[in-house]
Amino acid sequence: MKTILIIGIGAGDPDYLTVQAVKALNRVDVFFLMDKGPAKTKLRALRDEICRRHIAPGHPHRFVEAPSPPRDTRPADYRASVDELNAAKQMVFEQMIAAMEDGETAGILVWGDPMLYDSTIRNIEAIEARGTHAIQFEVIPGVTAVQALAARHRIPLNRIAEPVLLTTGRKLAEGFPDGVDSAAVLLDGEDTYRHFAEEEMEIYWGAYLGTPDEILIAGRLADVAGEIHRRRHAAREKNGWIMDTYLLRKTGV
Ligand SMILES: C[S@@+](CC[C@H](N)C(=O)[O-])C[C@H]1O[C@@H](n2cnc3c(N)ncnc32)[C@H](O)[C@@H]1O
Repeated sequence: MKTILIIGIGAGDPDYLTVQAVKALNRVDVFFLMDKGPAKTKLRALRDEICRRHIAPGHPHRFVEAPSPPRDTRPADYRASVDELNAAKQMVFEQMIAAMEDGETAGILVWGDPMLYDSTIRNIEAIEARGTHAIQFEVIPGVTAVQALAARHRIPLNRIAEPVLLTTGRKLAEGFPDGVDSAAVLLDGEDTYRHFAEEEMEIYWGAYLGTPDEILIAGRLADVAGEIHRRRHAAREKNGWIMDTYLLRKTGV
């Protein structure tokens, strides 16, 4: 039997790592790395730093790295393109698993928490279900970008006894859902918050949370939407990539 640990490493600050994650890192014989895009160097550096800081000296471990399969950035069918990407990732993971010795433990370090907009659990589950390899897997939670955002703005995520929607920019573009007054938005490459600038809302926005490049802006949406747009585009231009997230909340309800 081979064991796969899917370890949430938090969304930026190496100090977001939990004690449980540190214990998991120290069980790993081989780390699987599969990064992509312009943020790859930063993400890789953070992972190296986490391993250097938290793996006990003398604990033998190795890294196996493969390029992440390419992805259509403007697909006609979004779901189909994600399914295709995941099928390709599963093939890469299967090759990495095949190269493990029986009884070994692999670690996959997932940005933030593996349960939030990340396909690693689905991919490993699919490999387990296929049954080609005798594997078992465990999930270790991490601090999500949404938790980091709320902490840095010093806000609770929900209003008292009210729900919060976790969504993407793509979904938010279809409209602010009925019955929801707060939405935490990830994966928004299109500044979708600007669609609601005429409505009475507040926004808590954060980019590069937990890193030295962190930017925080909050206020009445109509007042700060332009500033967020400017800062977001200037930062993306300067760094070559951006990771940002925000909470949009109706006011006066
Ligand atoms: C593929 S999702 C992964 C989410 C991750 N699993 C988590 O738990 O936060 C990537 C999105 O998370 C958000 N994100 C992740 N890290 C971030 C950070 N340090 N600062 C701001 N947003 C971040 C951005 O919206 C980004 O587009």
